[in-house]
Amino acid sequence: MRAAGEKTPATAAGWRAFAARRWERAGAAAGQVAADLGDEALFLVLRGLGLPLDSPPEVLRRKLSAAENARLASLVERRAEGAPSAYLLKEAWLGGLRFHVDERVLIPRSYFTELIPGGLPLEPANVRRAADVCAGSACLAILMARHYRRARVDAVELSADALEVARLNVRRHRLTGRVALFRSDLFDAVPEAAYDLIVSNPPYEPSAVCDKLPREFQREPRMALDGGRDGLAIIRRLVAQAARRLAPEGVLAMEVGGLRNAMERGWPGVFHWLPTADGSDCVCLATSGALRRFHAASK
Ligand SMILES: C[S@@+](CC[C@H](N)C(=O)[O-])C[C@H]1O[C@@H](n2cnc3c(N)ncnc32)[C@H](O)[C@@H]1O
Repeated sequence: MRAAGEKTPATAAGWRAFAARRWERAGAAAGQVAADLGDEALFLVLRGLGLPLDSPPEVLRRKLSAAENARLASLVERRAEGAPSAYLLKEAWLGGLRFHVDERVLIPRSYFTELIPGGLPLEPANVRRAADVCAGSACLAILMARHYRRARVDAVELSADALEVARLNVRRHRLTGRVALFRSDLFDAVPEAAYDLIVSNPPYEPSAVCDKLPREFQREPRMALDGGRDGLAIIRRLVAQAARRLAPEGVLAMEVGGLRNAMERGWPGVFHWLPTADGSDCVCLATSGALRRFHAASK
């Protein structure tokens, strides 16, 4: 819907500016594919036209065909009505890689994108067994397999729908030989293994927060976000299981959103916090030794 006096755009640059204004008026929330609506609009316009994300600025000034204008008009309007850009385009980018995404999975936006390529205290050559628990689209399992080139990665996911998306992505990235998929409630149905690294971006939002999420976030699977009353329902079980699944020198790294204080109360001295570019204290790490000592002392 155009504001009074607003012209229909005829170039990609025009559509980008139009989209950002339209979404602003519609009360859209950013954060799924970009930190602000202007960057999300650039993503939707470029990829809606099938152009690379690193296209030179002159492509934005080209006059578009009637079919291109019609496609962008439809995408911009559906986004204004609450559909996430990544679901409209069926893609999301993480660590320079393209992943198929749709309503069956969370739109990838994890801090592990910055941490897997060098931000975890592990020598890549020493990582032979790794797991991505709560794998969703398998984006993190794939990033791990590409960084830890000698590792076999187990991607664990409870949702059968999400696992279909994960299977597609693992095939697309030609990693079926090294990334194994398991439908499992955390590690319950995964064969025993001693992991050098367990990574997880589990559901960690308290249920009451999920109830009030902006509408585009409500389109994501609830089970990808909802961590129960205090956000810790999945984390509690995962921490207990990881203590038994890690190799003696192994580490557990978890993204936990705003739960730092709760984690420090629940597992005093067990986790330390990994720096990320925005200084958000969202990702924590525990060694196998620290987890085992904690569980031994709590028996
Ligand atoms: C926050 S999403 C993370 C997805 C992906 N790793 C990413 O970073 O984009 C959490 C995922 O955990 C899955 N999940 C929820 N409960 C689970 C459980 N008990 N066991 C395994 N996976 C679970 C959800 O279906 C969802 O795909």
